[in-house]
Amino acid sequence: MKIVSIIGSHRKNGNTETMLKAFDKEFKALEIPDYKNKFYNISEMNIYPCRSCLKCMRKNNCVIEDDFGKVALKMIQSDLIIMGSPVYFSDVSAQIKALFDRTYSLWHKKMLKGKNIIFVATCAEYGSGHTIDTMRHWALDHEMNIIATVEGKSEKKGKVLENEMTVKAIADAVRACDGIIPKTEEN
Ligand SMILES: Cc1cc2nc3c(=O)[nH]c(=O)nc-3n(C[C@H](O)[C@H](O)[C@H](O)COP(=O)(O)O)c2cc1C
Repeated sequence: MKIVSIIGSHRKNGNTETMLKAFDKEFKALEIPDYKNKFYNISEMNIYPCRSCLKCMRKNNCVIEDDFGKVALKMIQSDLIIMGSPVYFSDVSAQIKALFDRTYSLWHKKMLKGKNIIFVATCAEYGSGHTIDTMRHWALDHEMNIIATVEGKSEKKGKVLENEMTVKAIADAVRACDGIIPKTEEN
C-alpha cells in the first residue's frame, strides 16, 4: 500500500506534522504488506503559484519547472493521500493553496479522479471547519474519494495529540480505510 503524506506547514514538529506522523504510526501497527509512506513537506520545496497560462489545457501537464511534478506524480501513484494544513485565517496555508491551484493541470483529464484522500486541519482555536471546507471543494472538483477529515486543535506547537478526541479521530479515520487496505491471510 502506497501513501503520500503532504505537510503544508513550515513548522518542524508542529501540529500538522505531528498528526500526519500519528497516522503513519497507526498504519504501521496494521503491518500492511508493502507499506510505504512518502512524506513531503511542501514548505521545504519549490511549488510556485499557478500563473494561469492555461498551457496545461493543451499539454495536460504544468509547464512551470519546479517541485510540483514530483508531488503530483506521487499523488497519482499512491493508494491514499493524507494532506495536512495548519489553519491560517480560517483557511489552508499558502503552500497548500498553491499546490491545489497547480493541480489544474491534472484536472482536465481527471487524473486524480477516484483517488482516496484524508484531510487534516490543525488550528489553535477556530477556523478548521472552513479550512476543511476549502479542502473538500478541491477534492470534489477532482472527483476524489474523501475517506475522512480530521481536525486538531492546540495552542502549543506539536501538542495536538494531547486531545484524546483527536487521537480517536485519527484511529477512526484509519479504520475507515479498511476497504482500501490490501488483505493478507493474517489481516
Ligand atoms: C498566519 C497564521 C494564521 C493563523 N490563523 C489561525 C486561525 O484563523 N485560527 C486558529 O485557530 N489558529 C490560527 N493560527 C494558528 C495555527 O493554525 C495553529 O498554531 C496550528 O496548529 C499550526 O499548525 P503547525 O504547528 O502545523 O504549523 C494561525 C497561525 C498563523 C501563523
